[in-house]
Amino acid sequence: MFEFTNDVVKDNAKFLSNRGVTLPTFSEMKNPCNIPEPIKLMLKEVELDAVHPLNLYRITWKNEPVKLGGGFQLLPNILEFPPELTGVKSRIIGLSGKFFPTGAHKVGSSLACLIPRIISGELDLQHNFAVWPSTGNFCRGGAFNSAIMGCHSISVLPENMSKERFDWLNNISGEVITTLGSESNVKEIYDRVNQLRMERNNVVVFNQFCDFWNYLWHYEVTASTFLDLFNSIKGDTERFAGICLSSGSSGTLGCADAIKDVYPSVKLAVGEALQCPTLLMNGYGEHTIEGIGDKHVPWIHNVRNTDMIVGIDDNHCKEIFKLFNLPAGHEYLKSIGINDSIIQKLNWCGISGIANLCLAIKFSKYYELTSNDIVFTILTDSTEMYQSKLLEEDYNLFDAQIAYLVFLQGLKTDYIDELTYKDKKRIHNLKYYTWVEQQGMSVEELDRQWHDPHYWKKIQLSTKKIDESIQEFNNNI
Ligand SMILES: Cc1ncc(COP(=O)(O)O)c(C=O)c1O
Repeated sequence: MFEFTNDVVKDNAKFLSNRGVTLPTFSEMKNPCNIPEPIKLMLKEVELDAVHPLNLYRITWKNEPVKLGGGFQLLPNILEFPPELTGVKSRIIGLSGKFFPTGAHKVGSSLACLIPRIISGELDLQHNFAVWPSTGNFCRGGAFNSAIMGCHSISVLPENMSKERFDWLNNISGEVITTLGSESNVKEIYDRVNQLRMERNNVVVFNQFCDFWNYLWHYEVTASTFLDLFNSIKGDTERFAGICLSSGSSGTLGCADAIKDVYPSVKLAVGEALQCPTLLMNGYGEHTIEGIGDKHVPWIHNVRNTDMIVGIDDNHCKEIFKLFNLPAGHEYLKSIGINDSIIQKLNWCGISGIANLCLAIKFSKYYELTSNDIVFTILTDSTEMYQSKLLEEDYNLFDAQIAYLVFLQGLKTDYIDELTYKDKKRIHNLKYYTWVEQQGMSVEELDRQWHDPHYWKKIQLSTKKIDESIQEFNNNI
């Protein structure tokens, strides 16, 4: 992949050298203990969110949960939701994305998409524009990493995403382009990106929905983090019951493929908004869970490895969001015995993190899980990006007790599909319309995704040499 004789690669290396940038390896992202000591020392002076070259080394789940000068931990930051809150016996544990630079885990996928293009010369940092189409945090991550590398970025996202996202992007991204609609309007983003390709001849598009480096970052880094965590808590009785994730680009789902290699009985449950039930019933619609449910099946979703689809009502997420964030909600939770240390961490849950929690609860109810069962999920970002959504609500109408009842009565075993072979094939076949008809993928490749077990293996093995290439590139910086 890496050719130091290529002029663009040489220019990229020189350009990064002048900016003081070196690239982290996948091994360092998995285990930041491997990061050289001098870098760790210098990080003591750097804020978590600073557009600073050393913050590339903070693209890991294992950052210390502090805003300035944090080091690294052996394990990720987690929030375990107690049964008094969830109403189920299983141990539901969320990995927190809040302590990545940008405050969201997608910064990892975006870096994984960027690195191979830099070291292969596919992206010329000084002359190309990096285009980041997204409905959630992927374009924030892309804009952040591009800014560190000194590459002009263009973020493309729907106009109705949260105000905080736009405020943030307007500070960091080279350009911000809005498209019509909201969360589920991905087709409009694709159309705008295709138009951009015709208008400017220097754009390199990072399409997270079909970019296997998005999948691979989670296959490598997120999966190994979950496995480290499970190894640290497993005793004689604990079972790794499931991994519950809602899908946007479906990159995060990639972690389940690696986890199933180690624990084949682990189930992958995938969530989407009930208001836009594409996987559940080929449906469409509008919903308010930013970052997920984009009205199509991403190319990088390994549907054969998905065991269950769960519809999550976005109204439930909104109620829980208020419960987790309003003072009246906190008082109520205290009154029912929820520990203060948990209440203080509830702002680790953004809206899609709450959707993931709802999914894990429905999953636990469906399989009648017990206190021996561990269900893992991801708290993608935090409340930081959604304060304006709270302000839109009429606090006077908020009743914390009713909101709490969502856990006990609202979250049921409805809108769940435990997938048969035919169900999986139906979902896989939906890819045809987006990817073959609209986006130019071949039907042969679509068929290989389904029939050829080597298809996914080959992709998974493509990270094998990446660290060597990154190191070699760094040596030439
Ligand atoms: C807030 C939020 N939640 C969930 C997701 C879904 O993650 P993925 O795209 O890996 O499926 C995203 C993706 O950008 C997101 O921004």
